[in-house]
Amino acid sequence: MSVLERPLGAMPAAARNAAPQKHFLHVVGARPNFMKAAPMIRALSRRGSVQTLVHTGQHYDFNMSEVFFEQLGLPRQATNLEVGPGSHAKQTAEIMMRLEPVLLEQEPAAVVVYGDVNSTVAAALVSAKLRIPLVHVEAGLRSFDRSMPEEINRLLTDQVADTLFTPSAEADENLQREGIAREKIFRVGNVMIDSLVRLLPESAQHLPPHLPDKFALATLHRPGNVDVPAYLRQLLGTFAELSKKMPIIFPVHPRTRLRIGELHLDVMPNGTLHLLDPLPYLSFLALEQRATVVITDSGGIQEETTFLRVPCLTLRESTERPITVTLGSNTLVGREIGRLVGEFESVLAGRPKRGAIPPLWDGHAAERIAAILA
Ligand code: UD1
Repeated sequence: MSVLERPLGAMPAAARNAAPQKHFLHVVGARPNFMKAAPMIRALSRRGSVQTLVHTGQHYDFNMSEVFFEQLGLPRQATNLEVGPGSHAKQTAEIMMRLEPVLLEQEPAAVVVYGDVNSTVAAALVSAKLRIPLVHVEAGLRSFDRSMPEEINRLLTDQVADTLFTPSAEADENLQREGIAREKIFRVGNVMIDSLVRLLPESAQHLPPHLPDKFALATLHRPGNVDVPAYLRQLLGTFAELSKKMPIIFPVHPRTRLRIGELHLDVMPNGTLHLLDPLPYLSFLALEQRATVVITDSGGIQEETTFLRVPCLTLRESTERPITVTLGSNTLVGREIGRLVGEFESVLAGRPKRGAIPPLWDGHAAERIAAILA
């Protein structure tokens, strides 16, 4: 475990004595956390508080983690708990055991957790039991599908959080329905969009070379989609067919790469279905903005495409981000291959769903949070 030498942004002793600074400890672990923590650390630092960043090590590959730290400007001197892979119980328990001594040593004024990954719920439980105030950023999202591990993580984290920051009105309603006091809930908008707004201009320089004029961008990693061999085989076959109509660029998540390997496909994708390694943040953003259509089962990508007003076809039966469907550019196609093909063709025929950008998704959510926490 690499240990932090001093809290990030710590000031010289003289300045510290002048005004007591609040110390926030941020816990991140998986790829979708990094773009949410970056604007928070910037906004809180600007208000003069001290930040410590702890990376649980849930995601550990260079292209799932480190390249995001680089591109988002996340502090390099983060403590890394190096938990790595494991069953949900093992991963969650390891994070809890390794985080507890860090919190006892650091004694932050509050712990800040993001989203719905295993690192989020693990850190939430440790903080709640140590009675350290817990801040949940991206609270209140619900898919109402408890077969998704993230739904369990969301429900539990929100129950023990002291301050809950939500991206949209339905998130506030979900929390209140679950008995969470109104005064703990603050609707601030979408912090992930803060990173997008800041880095979109720069992303143009990170466009992968040799792009076709028109292309679809695909991602896939939900256990419900990739852990069922027959369905994954069918999906990949459909991608290969669709790519004959419009090339598909498919950066493959490590979990999916593993499952594809297990299928022992004799003929894998042709010249128009391009399987790549996971892409860095800026390259992915650049592609997302230029894609004719995005096919995904990710949560965050439903939101990014809504902001970019790029049509998104989501391979899930439900979404914890319904505003991307009711207002944004997202369409849930579920697990019906026929629906996916139909919607893809409808985009090709010039009938894309563009939608509108939800209120408060404006690049300033983290500043609103910092103002409240300060
Ligand atoms: C996790 C999150 C999910 C999020 C996704 C984004 C949970 C429950 N799930 O899922 O919400 O959308 O991250 O990517 O927290 N692996 C590597 N290298 C890595 C990371 C993972 O090889 O850097 C492998 C692991 O060894 C494992 C598989 O990918 O075999 C799954 O990783 P895991 O962290 O368990 O969950 P994700 O599927 O990535």
